Amino acid sequence: MIPCPTVNPMGQIAVIAGDGIGKEVIPQALKVIQATGAPLDFTQFDWGADRYLADSTTVPPGGFAMLARDFDAILVGAFGDPRIPSNVHAREILLGMRSQMDLYANVRPVWLMDASLCPLKGMETKDIDFVVVRENTEGVYGDVGGVFKRDTADEVAIQEDINTWKGVERIIRYAFEYCQRSRKRDGSPRSRVLMCDKSNAMTHAGSLWQRAFKEVAAEYPKIETQHMYVDALAMQMVRDPRRLDVIVTNNMFGDILTDIGAALQGGLGMAASGNIRPGKTSMFEPVHGSAPTIAGKNVANPIGAILTAAMMLAHLGMTAESAKIEAAVLEAVRQKKTTEDLGGTLGTREAGDCVAERVA
Ligand code: NAD
Ligand code: IPM
Ligand code: MN
Repeated sequence: MIPCPTVNPMGQIAVIAGDGIGKEVIPQALKVIQATGAPLDFTQFDWGADRYLADSTTVPPGGFAMLARDFDAILVGAFGDPRIPSNVHAREILLGMRSQMDLYANVRPVWLMDASLCPLKGMETKDIDFVVVRENTEGVYGDVGGVFKRDTADEVAIQEDINTWKGVERIIRYAFEYCQRSRKRDGSPRSRVLMCDKSNAMTHAGSLWQRAFKEVAAEYPKIETQHMYVDALAMQMVRDPRRLDVIVTNNMFGDILTDIGAALQGGLGMAASGNIRPGKTSMFEPVHGSAPTIAGKNVANPIGAILTAAMMLAHLGMTAESAKIEAAVLEAVRQKKTTEDLGGTLGTREAGDCVAERVA
C-alpha cells in the first residue's frame, strides 16, 4: 500500500501540567492557544507529584525518547510538592528533561508590559526589554558530587560545577545568534551580548567562559560585547536595567537572575521561558514554580503560562497566532483584567477567559 501523504499535519504538543498551580495555569494557556485556532493536537501526561506518590514513577521508561520522537514541542507547568521534600520527582522530570533531551538553551525574555507593574521608580515599558540566555544542562545542576561521612560531625558534601568547552561555547554562540536574529519590541535591532560570570572567585570555570566568549565574539564583529560579575549584574538589574540586551550566563546564575527579571516585569506570574534544543523537540514552561501556598485557590496568575504558550507557537513558526496572544495579554493587562498579584480582581480561570476572548 502506498502511504497517503499527510496534508497540513497537526502539530503534536505534549502537555505536562505537573504540580500545584501548574495544574491551574496550563489549562488557561491551552484555552488561549485553542482560541487562536492553531492547528495543534494536545496529549496530556500525568507526570508529577500525584503520580509519583501513587506508583513511584517519575518519568516512565523511555519517556524522554517518546517525547522527542512523537512531539513537536512540550508545554510544562511546574513541579514541586510539599509532600515530597526530597524534590526527587521534580529533578527527574524537569532537570531530567533539560539534560537528557539536551535542551541546552533556556531563553527567558524580560519585558515590561505596563509601567505600573514595575517595582522600580520611573521605568517606562521601553526601558525593560532584555533576554537571559541561561545554560541549561551543566554547571552545578549536573548532579556530580557526593557525600562523605553523612550524618556525622565530619560530614562533607561536594557539589561540582561542570563547565565543558562544548557546553559553554554553544550557549554563548546561541546568545550571539539570538542577538543577531531577534529584535526588541520597539522594532530596533538587538546589539549587545553581556556575559555574566564569577571569574574573580571561580577561576577555573571563569577562565573557560572568558576564553569561549572571546573566541565566539570574534565571529560577530558587529555585536558589542560586555562582561559583568554576577553580583554586579544583580545590582544593575534592580538599579537600572535600561541598557541590558542579551545576557548569557551559567545555569545557576541564570536561575537566580531570571527571578529578579520576573520581579521587574511584575512578578513571577508574568515570566515565560523556552528550553530550546535547536532543530529538535523543545520544552516551554513559565519561570515560576508550583507555588503550593496559593495552589487550588484560583488565584495564580496565568499570564506567565500564556506567554509561554505564545513563545512555543512562535518557535513552531505560528508567528501570527503568537502575536495575537501577546496583544491580547497586553490589552488585558492595560485594562487591569488580571489576577490580584497585578492589581486586578479576577481569578485564574477568569483572567484566562479574558485573554482567550480577546484572542478569539
Ligand atoms: P514559586 O515560583 O512557586 O513561588 C514563589 C512566590 O511567587 C510565591 O510567593 C508564589 O505564591 C508566587 N508566585 C509564583 N507563581 C505565581 C503566579 N503564577 N501567580 C501569582 N503568584 C505566583 O517558587 P518557590 O516558592 O520557591 O517554590 C515552590 C515549589 O516550586 C518548590 O517545590 C520549587 O522547587 C518548585 N519550583 C518549580 C519550578 C519549575 O517547575 N519550573 C520553578 C521554581 C520552583
Ligand atoms: C527554574 C526552577 C528550577 C531550576 C528548579 C525547580 C529546579 O527554579 O526553572 O527556574 O532551578 O532551574
Ligand atoms: Mn528558578
